[in-house]
Amino acid sequence: MFTSERPYIFHVELTDKCNAGCPMCPRTDAMNFCKPDRTKVFNVELGLEDFRTHFTDEFCARTEEIVFGGAYGDPLAASQLLEIVEHLTERGVRLAVSTNGGLRPPKWWTRLGEAMKRTGSRLELHLDGLADTNHLYRVNTRWERIMENARAYIATGARAEWHFIIFKHNQHQIEEANRLSKEMGFAEFTLIDTIRFSGGPTYDYVMPTGERCALELPDVKAAQFRASDDGGVALLEKPAAATDGPRLGVNGIDCKSAAFNRPYISAHGQVSACCWVTGSDEEAAFFADHGLGPERYNIRNRPLEDILLDEPFASLYARAWAQDSLKNCRHKCGRMLRNKRNTLWSA
Ligand SMILES: C[S@@+](CC[C@H](N)C(=O)[O-])C[C@H]1O[C@@H](n2cnc3c(N)ncnc32)[C@H](O)[C@@H]1O
Ligand code: SF4
Ligand code: SF4
Repeated sequence: MFTSERPYIFHVELTDKCNAGCPMCPRTDAMNFCKPDRTKVFNVELGLEDFRTHFTDEFCARTEEIVFGGAYGDPLAASQLLEIVEHLTERGVRLAVSTNGGLRPPKWWTRLGEAMKRTGSRLELHLDGLADTNHLYRVNTRWERIMENARAYIATGARAEWHFIIFKHNQHQIEEANRLSKEMGFAEFTLIDTIRFSGGPTYDYVMPTGERCALELPDVKAAQFRASDDGGVALLEKPAAATDGPRLGVNGIDCKSAAFNRPYISAHGQVSACCWVTGSDEEAAFFADHGLGPERYNIRNRPLEDILLDEPFASLYARAWAQDSLKNCRHKCGRMLRNKRNTLWSA
């Protein structure tokens, strides 16, 4: 799955801590006031020392990009994010930081922008609406604070992208959000359809105040929109048909991690094939079936590259795809059951 002969791209979860309580996030106990689910969240994080150990000058030269996202936390909640960003960008690594933008003061964001700028790194700011709606999904965040932070960051000249998940409660604000993103100096505007309504058209949750709420499926899809000539947003009369061709790869499973040489590292230090399989029961069973103990896959125990070039990544995954024994892989990289994105424009 992974090779030292091509540059690596890593997807790293720096921490499982977060200031927000987005109802559909796996860290959130939606019916319990959007508090963290303590069976999944352990308040762990990777620190500067982990990066000094594994991302040496030599290894950084072979690392094309690191995406700080993850499954259970926000990278800005990691106590040493800034030091880690400085360590990596000083060594030429391009970064992407995905965040709700609510943490840290503007002065800190100015320092972040200065460091990110060095390697053309990008910030993915997840703003699902405007002042009166963003907090309906990004529970516990404050709009004014996010706006101050975004302005401080953008003023440094570093790249920021606006990512907008469409719900019924924000679908009418796409045009205005797009306009604001341009006015503020964002470099991209992307709409996202969530696939997390799998249980039905509504998704119940309880706000920290005790108010019962429900997210609703929107009436529109990301693919229906395009940037219009006057700089705004227009609806397509006939959305372009999906262009998914026949699947390549093994047995119709076109592994995204293999294609991009893109391993996943969790905030516990565990290395996994990708963010979709990490920590899943299926991954645990797969490792157990092959007598592989989880401790062998932790960067606190072994050099990162030794782990990447070892089993199960070396050959066992490909064998499992051939036998179609991994449901997650069939869903995500065989049937492409993923969130759909539409970037309306990108500078
Ligand atoms: C767990 S978050 C970690 C990064 C960061 N905390 C954030 O929210 O951007 C990982 C990704 O899931 C996305 N996400 C959260 N809720 C989602 C939803 N309902 N549908 C699709 N993506 C979602 C986030 O926007 C982010 O891109
Ligand atoms: S901001 Fe990201 S990590 Fe935090 S609750 Fe929302 S989706 Fe989850
Ligand atoms: S779901 Fe499976 S096939 Fe897809 S990227 Fe992850 S490991 Fe690869």
